[in-house]
Amino acid sequence: MNRSATNMTRREFLALAAQVGVATALAPTLAACAPSGPTYDDHVKRVWEQPLDAGGNMNSQILEIIRYATLAPSGHNTQPWKFAIKDNTIRILPDFARHLAIVDPDDRELFISLGCALENLVIAAQQMGYADETALFPANDPDAIVVRLNESKTKSDSHLFDAIPIRQSTRNEYAKQKIPTDDLQKLEQASQAPCISALLFTENQPIESFIEYVKEGNRQQYADKHFVEELIQWLRFNDDEALQRRDGLSTRCSGNPSTPRWLGSFFVGGSNGDDQTEKDAKNIRSSAGMMLFVSERNDKAAWVETGRAYERYALTATTLNIKSAFLNQPIEVPTLRSQLQTRFNLAGAYPQLLLRFGYSQVMPRSLRRPIEAVIGRG
Ligand SMILES: Cc1cc2nc3c(=O)[nH]c(=O)nc-3n(C[C@H](O)[C@H](O)[C@H](O)COP(=O)(O)O)c2cc1C
Repeated sequence: MNRSATNMTRREFLALAAQVGVATALAPTLAACAPSGPTYDDHVKRVWEQPLDAGGNMNSQILEIIRYATLAPSGHNTQPWKFAIKDNTIRILPDFARHLAIVDPDDRELFISLGCALENLVIAAQQMGYADETALFPANDPDAIVVRLNESKTKSDSHLFDAIPIRQSTRNEYAKQKIPTDDLQKLEQASQAPCISALLFTENQPIESFIEYVKEGNRQQYADKHFVEELIQWLRFNDDEALQRRDGLSTRCSGNPSTPRWLGSFFVGGSNGDDQTEKDAKNIRSSAGMMLFVSERNDKAAWVETGRAYERYALTATTLNIKSAFLNQPIEVPTLRSQLQTRFNLAGAYPQLLLRFGYSQVMPRSLRRPIEAVIGRG
């Protein structure tokens, strides 16, 4: 009996993947130890364990500051940013070649990602002894976020800086443990910004409601073959793929086995979202709480400010050893997004990001493209 992918349960897929994985794993040894380049872990070290080098002239310092900016999170790890440098000015530009046409048609998540990178950039610049003058899409440069750096006498508070190379999106099951009230307050304070609020939920009733929205989000997204094709395009099913591109969603980062692309695409392509929902619901119920970032306006400046507020939240959470993971499905589906506005009495404010938080083990890290790949004339 030829069983279509949809009948293949996650357990069966993992068993098959393990067999294929063993075969794939043996292949290299059988290939008489062909010389191999740097491994995934080598690249993780290069990306996440290289301290900020404050030596050198201003230009090399600016390159280091930009390197720290690129450690920011981005939708599907698209890294949709370009940086142009002129003297003491850095322009951050959207890289629309990395646009997610299906899940992010209006580039909302792209500009939120630029906001995350901007926040890292400003924090790293302060650590380097620079104060920033930042303008979002000024009239004389409407496509760019313009950051002018000036020598600063004030010593920066480095606790968020130290968290930049530690922060990650941690997509495993969390330890269902409450977070002390004063730490919850620190998370809320860190997330506040003009026209941006972060609503925090720790009670079961709203959290179960979010699970229903995530479930419906998965159902609608996986029913859309264009969404699934785009997701498969950005998934990196094994280390070779991840090392070739150094972007996208490495299956390592979500605890899935390494598989050949044909098998991974077959499984994801055949899923109706139920597996994802089962996993999301279990993970959400293992979390200490959820947070919904909302903004008063819904334009690119508000999206950048949302990204900045989220990054300050994520770095503060990291200093408190609190992990986070996104569940933006109900915000990415327009009908569900407006339902969230009503269900949570947002009075016209716009939901921008939904995440869960709690205590957990660190997961394998995502990769980043080399700095040379993101420096552009812009
Ligand atoms: C605007 C935005 C939206 C995101 N949406 C999701 C999401 O819906 N689900 C998810 O698992 N991760 C989501 N992420 C996390 C990215 O996939 C993650 O940042 C990227 O893979 C890099 O990994 P890192 O955050 O661990 O460095 C989002 C990130 C950003 C900035």
